Amino acid sequence: MKILVTGGLGFIGSHTVVELQNEGFEVLVVDNLSNSSEKVLDGIFNITGKKPAFEKIDLRDKSSVQKLFQTHQNISGVIHFAASKAVGESVENPLLYYENNINTLVYLLQELKELPNANFIFSSSCTVYGQAEKMPITENASVQPAISPYGNTKQIGEEIISDVAKVTKLNAILLRYFNPIGAHPSTEIGELPLGIPQNLIPYITQTAIGLREQLSIYGNDYQTPDGTAIRDYIHVVDLAKAHVIALQRLLNNRNVEKVEVFNLGTGTGSSVLEVVNAFEKVSGQKLNYKIVGRREGDVVEAYANTDYANTVLGWKAQSTLEEALDSAWKWEQKIRS
Ligand code: NAD
Ligand code: WQD
Repeated sequence: MKILVTGGLGFIGSHTVVELQNEGFEVLVVDNLSNSSEKVLDGIFNITGKKPAFEKIDLRDKSSVQKLFQTHQNISGVIHFAASKAVGESVENPLLYYENNINTLVYLLQELKELPNANFIFSSSCTVYGQAEKMPITENASVQPAISPYGNTKQIGEEIISDVAKVTKLNAILLRYFNPIGAHPSTEIGELPLGIPQNLIPYITQTAIGLREQLSIYGNDYQTPDGTAIRDYIHVVDLAKAHVIALQRLLNNRNVEKVEVFNLGTGTGSSVLEVVNAFEKVSGQKLNYKIVGRREGDVVEAYANTDYANTVLGWKAQSTLEEALDSAWKWEQKIRS
């Protein structure tokens, strides 16, 4: 069965391609390499013994998207990762984000809705909940006004998919990721942030390896036990596996709604200081850090209620925070060696 994976050479996409191939799916990867490299194909090959088919296509080019579906008429499902994801950049350049995250989605859906198997999985984000009132966050928590254009593209994306599903054959699963971290235990694939990392874990590993001088911890005056902000850090391999299960649900017509929403997290919140301490423990490295002011737009805490994914998908995150941090550290050491 052929599955189209957009953004399949990126961080989460590449790990998902591995899990799909491990389960026997034939994968077609489309990526414009704006935030990845063709070398990721070698990493996938080294893990699975198979290179997925790859087409370098920019999904912002509508005619290329049309041609893609004309050339490959036997696509059974689409997992759509391709997007721009830097929150700060989206504030600076909102149109880049609306074009790359919305136009691409529209072009894909225009083709997909014509297919006999219009199965679609969308990478959404816990950012849609903003600062939720109650922890842990269930899928029923209200979607809050977006904090950034990036977050808005995820909310609008969800709405577009729901509108299209109402009037077409489209069946979709919206996966709201919490904070994906880590790398494949083989160290063949992992996260490759361009420039100065905005996210906590790559900043930590780059500081530990000596690429950055010091980690700035954004605020220790939050209403949390140690004053630092709380997130739900999920190992990327666990996250990748959830995509395969969600896809199987769609392919076997087991979805009860045309559009279903699942939180993907571990269900456990960890503070920034807890992450730093856990990293120091698994790496044996003392981390140079200082406390600075809060980062604009940050929520105090966000962690998932995963009951719905656990019971309905039959999926549960397996890795601990320590295992995820260990894999991130091994990956950092490998790419700098
Ligand atoms: P990533 O940047 O590593 O991967 C995205 C991939 O899409 C890259 O390989 C990039 O080259 C490709 N791409 C971007 N625009 C494209 C275009 N126009 N045409 C073709 N390819 C294009 O990001 P990721 O962390 O793997 O995130 C994957 C998805 O998950 C994104 O939609 C992101 O918004 C979402 N998400 C990520 C996180 C996170 O923290 N990483 C959290 C929640 C949701
Ligand atoms: C985690 C915690 C920071 C860096 C972002 C997006 C979200 C989603 C995941 C895509 C926060 C603190 C961070 C640093 C720090 N992406 N921190 N020093 O902000 O939860 O979510 O990525 O959908 O939409 O907003 O993740 O890794 O940036 O931060 O103290 O140098 O670490 O303040 O509390 P975040 P993050």
